[in-house]
Amino acid sequence: MNAPSSTLSLPALRPEAEGAPSSGIVDVANAGRERPGLIPLWVGEGDLPTPAFICEAATRSLAEGETFYTYQRGIPELRESLARYHTKLYGQPSDPERFFVTIGGMHAAQIAIRMVAGSGDEALIPTPAWPNFAGALEVAGARTVGVPLTLDERGWSLDLDRLADAVGPRTKVIVINSPANPTGWTASKADLRGILDIARRHGLWIIADEIYGRFIYDPETGPEGRAPSFRDVAEGDDRILYIQTFSKNWSMTGWRLGWLEASPAFGQIIENLVQYSTSGVPVPSQRAGIAALEHGESFLADQIARAAAGRTIVRRLVATGHVDLPAPAGAFYAFPKIKGVSDSKALAIRLVHEAGVGVAPGSAFGPGGEGALRLCFARKASDLEEAVRRIAEALPRIIG
Ligand SMILES: Cc1ncc(COP(=O)(O)O)c(C=O)c1O
Repeated sequence: MNAPSSTLSLPALRPEAEGAPSSGIVDVANAGRERPGLIPLWVGEGDLPTPAFICEAATRSLAEGETFYTYQRGIPELRESLARYHTKLYGQPSDPERFFVTIGGMHAAQIAIRMVAGSGDEALIPTPAWPNFAGALEVAGARTVGVPLTLDERGWSLDLDRLADAVGPRTKVIVINSPANPTGWTASKADLRGILDIARRHGLWIIADEIYGRFIYDPETGPEGRAPSFRDVAEGDDRILYIQTFSKNWSMTGWRLGWLEASPAFGQIIENLVQYSTSGVPVPSQRAGIAALEHGESFLADQIARAAAGRTIVRRLVATGHVDLPAPAGAFYAFPKIKGVSDSKALAIRLVHEAGVGVAPGSAFGPGGEGALRLCFARKASDLEEAVRRIAEALPRIIG
């Protein structure tokens, strides 16, 4: 007979599970989710639903009875389509055997971490950062070491000497998210080369999260119409695992569809890790992914144009005189530092109640994030204009 749940004690759990941090974003969202008229800029997604042609590919698949277990690495048609997409985007031939379909970018990250870091290992992460990397690494038993990004009037940057100095005897991996959530920091090719040199020198892995690589706003940042990628500087045997997702480009956050890119030499290992985590990705979702890759460029171009307009609108917060906000080079978040604020969660909760705007507290993004707020600007202009108006009106009242 099962013991009544009240007799279960927390200390029976593994410390890594018990110690998993709760999301600082969800804490604020829970405070205001149901508030009528709230403009939600707290999570990392736009306001557009998945385009119909993508949904139809999935419903066709269901109607045709594609409801069985499938390839752990992903269906061959999607892996071929991913190879075509990469070949075109990066101007280098790509092999379908490099692509492994996952349940969102998060699952790709989870598998990458399982491959390279565990108990007793350390991972370097430029911060502020998307908190799920530290969370997943710590659940795997690894320790994360934040390497603070630098902020000045030109924006965020990574000091490569600081990164090199953070390498220790237990360091196994450097996690690089560029363009970055939440700061918009976007590594130049020279930065990527420098990071790769450090990794080569110390025999480290790189987990390259380039999911926002299509969201850049300035030709100087990405002359090729995309952000610089480790692919631009890497050689065949460099130790790099790439995290990717359908979530952001094609408004598919709820589908949970992504991919991991790695050397085909790891094919069997990744297949095993998929088997023991999710046992594969539903075929109808994978058909939707093919539709997105093959026919989704104009939708994506509209998304990027919308985000570019949104970026300009949220920059108007600078006129309040209460924020420092260099224009983010990539991704679709504004991360203003609010002058004189040391408790961003309290401020975010007050903005929910007093301005009707949902923002994420900077403290949720680790060291260097406190005192800032994150606003997602992948949204229609009228919402963003109203959100900026409300925040500008409420801020002087709240922070005096
Ligand atoms: C930097 C970064 N990587 C990965 C992900 C995960 O994306 P997915 O929704 O596909 O799991 C996110 C989502 O917000 C993100 O911001």
